Amino acid sequence: MAHPYRVYDELRRESPVSYFEPTDQWLISRHADVNALLRDRRLGRSYLHVATHEEFGRPPEPEFQEPFWRVIRAGMLDVEPPVHTRLRRLVSKAFTPRMVESLRPRVRAIAAGLVDAFVEKGGGDLIAEVAEPLPVTVIAEMLGIPDQDRHLLRPWSAEICGMYELNPTLEAQHTAVRAASEFAGYLKTLATERRRTPGEDLISALAGIPELTDDELVGTCVLLLNAGHEATVNVTGNGWWALFRNPSELARLREDRSLLPTAVEELMRWDTPLQMFERWVLEDIEVHGVEIPRGSEVALLFGSANRDPAVFEEPDRLDVGRVDNPHISFGAGIHFCLGAPLARIELIESFGALLDRADTLELRHTPAWKPGYIIRGLESLDVSAAG
Ligand code: HEM
Repeated sequence: MAHPYRVYDELRRESPVSYFEPTDQWLISRHADVNALLRDRRLGRSYLHVATHEEFGRPPEPEFQEPFWRVIRAGMLDVEPPVHTRLRRLVSKAFTPRMVESLRPRVRAIAAGLVDAFVEKGGGDLIAEVAEPLPVTVIAEMLGIPDQDRHLLRPWSAEICGMYELNPTLEAQHTAVRAASEFAGYLKTLATERRRTPGEDLISALAGIPELTDDELVGTCVLLLNAGHEATVNVTGNGWWALFRNPSELARLREDRSLLPTAVEELMRWDTPLQMFERWVLEDIEVHGVEIPRGSEVALLFGSANRDPAVFEEPDRLDVGRVDNPHISFGAGIHFCLGAPLARIELIESFGALLDRADTLELRHTPAWKPGYIIRGLESLDVSAAG
């Protein structure tokens, strides 16, 4: 987990499509293939719109997981057209580049406040004190989650994400189910209140759409709240650690703040926050002469695609000025990240605020990776800061 990139090099070179028995998946490691399969309609994030578990040769899910899947499968990320198209259309207006650009002043103000407090006390855990509260506050304000409840979001999200790791323990599964149930209950109550007394927020807007079922409303909010911060937190943490390990690139960025947009893309490429996404094969496919039959699962290795020398010049070099950077960190095809324009604003403002408002930032301890492979993030990032 600390060094997946060496393994990826070997996979890309020697077996771009390889069956991996421990997870019963086909690993896809080259950029061109990951990109093509994300756009290929013969694959899906789910198969339940075309087949039952039994028809796909998969065991039924344990009954205790029902409340979890009920929430997750009601969000756009886990459905395919036509349901996906309908759900995505209902919220996409709130996330267009123009709409989120109007949030920039607010994002900038939140970032400035967090960084000033961080510098005032000489630094601390950059993840807990800056990286997390920024995107959590932004998405919570968009949805209209009251201030006093925001502390609930991070733990619920982290517990739900536990189910997405490879082979989660039974305990992690139960924790994820409990978190999903609590989160759903909380959002149902909030939506009922907003239906009575609507505000300017997204929950009120969604609660006023008659064709959205209660489950879809909850599923959409859980997805937005979780996807709306989880990866952004990790890009900030992984990104700063990458800069500390590449001091000349950090110095370059300090000198020339106009590099911030390319730097953010590069940090997302160089240490990919979501290392892998899975797809079900809905019709037989062939990749590099290898037949992958219907019912199989492919693992698209984003972390590997982002270091593919066929696409990126000197892929292992961190280059904050990299211009030609078609990284795949936001995905591709119909599920392409809805929040990409918002994430970009948050990251540029957060990196910018730290560079502008702290004259020096120094790493105090080598950080440790959180356990887990798919969601790649640090436990903490202990940094000293001086204004
Ligand atoms: C740097 C931060 C982020 C990264 C790296 C990221 C990455 C991704 C990726 C890779 C997908 C597609 C997954 C797949 O195809 O299986 C996705 C989907 C999605 N993301 Fe993000 N995301 C980020 C931030 C955000 C933010 C801030 C939001 C805010 C709302 C958001 C909302 C969503 C939604 C709603 C989807 C589902 C889209 C669909 O199914 O049509 N993401 N994200």
